[in-house]
Amino acid sequence: MAHRPYKAKDHFFKKAHDQGLRARSAFKIDEIARRFSLFKKGQAVLDLGAAPGGFLQIIADEVGDKGTIVGVDVVAIRPLARANVKTAVLDVLADDFDVKLLELYAGAYDVVVSDLAPKTSGIRSTDEARSLRLAGKALEVSRTRGRPGGAFVAKLFMGGDFEAFRDDVRAAYADVKVVRPEATRGGSVEVYLVGLKRK
Ligand SMILES: C[S@@+](CC[C@H](N)C(=O)[O-])C[C@H]1O[C@@H](n2cnc3c(N)ncnc32)[C@H](O)[C@@H]1O
Repeated sequence: MAHRPYKAKDHFFKKAHDQGLRARSAFKIDEIARRFSLFKKGQAVLDLGAAPGGFLQIIADEVGDKGTIVGVDVVAIRPLARANVKTAVLDVLADDFDVKLLELYAGAYDVVVSDLAPKTSGIRSTDEARSLRLAGKALEVSRTRGRPGGAFVAKLFMGGDFEAFRDDVRAAYADVKVVRPEATRGGSVEVYLVGLKRK
């Protein structure tokens, strides 16, 4: 089943709470970061679909005080006490998104991360299509705003068009991996596509 109700007291939920992390999803980016040595000190990173800020907490530590992290979401992100993190309320599918994003930071990003996920309807094909649309936008942003040689991570619900999307990522990145992090809830259909070495 694709979209289980939130299981509030599972292992990763408790672990996140104990470590002062805002979301259990923090462990997913932590695992991906370690596996692929994704981040380095001083890098610029874009986090799409960043609320409530679990990924941001991990990435802020990874890139350090000299790094820059921009986090955007349709939902407001409670401020993090980190000078290197900038957040904004933006809809990635809005017509003016690209312009607004550029206003936040004009440089090229070393890594573009997307944990964007649609509000699920329970209708699998609809949810897959919405997830794909969000991941497609993330890939477009990584192509236009990511630097050559940089990396891309995007969450996607597995479904009919998964392979076509993976091919699109392969067209832009020399090395593409599919990852299902340990902290992914049992029964979830989500996976992360990791693109390394942007062409
Ligand atoms: C799984 S959550 C992200 C969790 C986050 N990575 C963390 O660690 O705290 C997915 C997010 O995607 C956001 N989202 C969905 N559609 C969006 C859109 N069109 N534009 C911006 N954010 C969107 C949701 O508001 C939600 O906060």
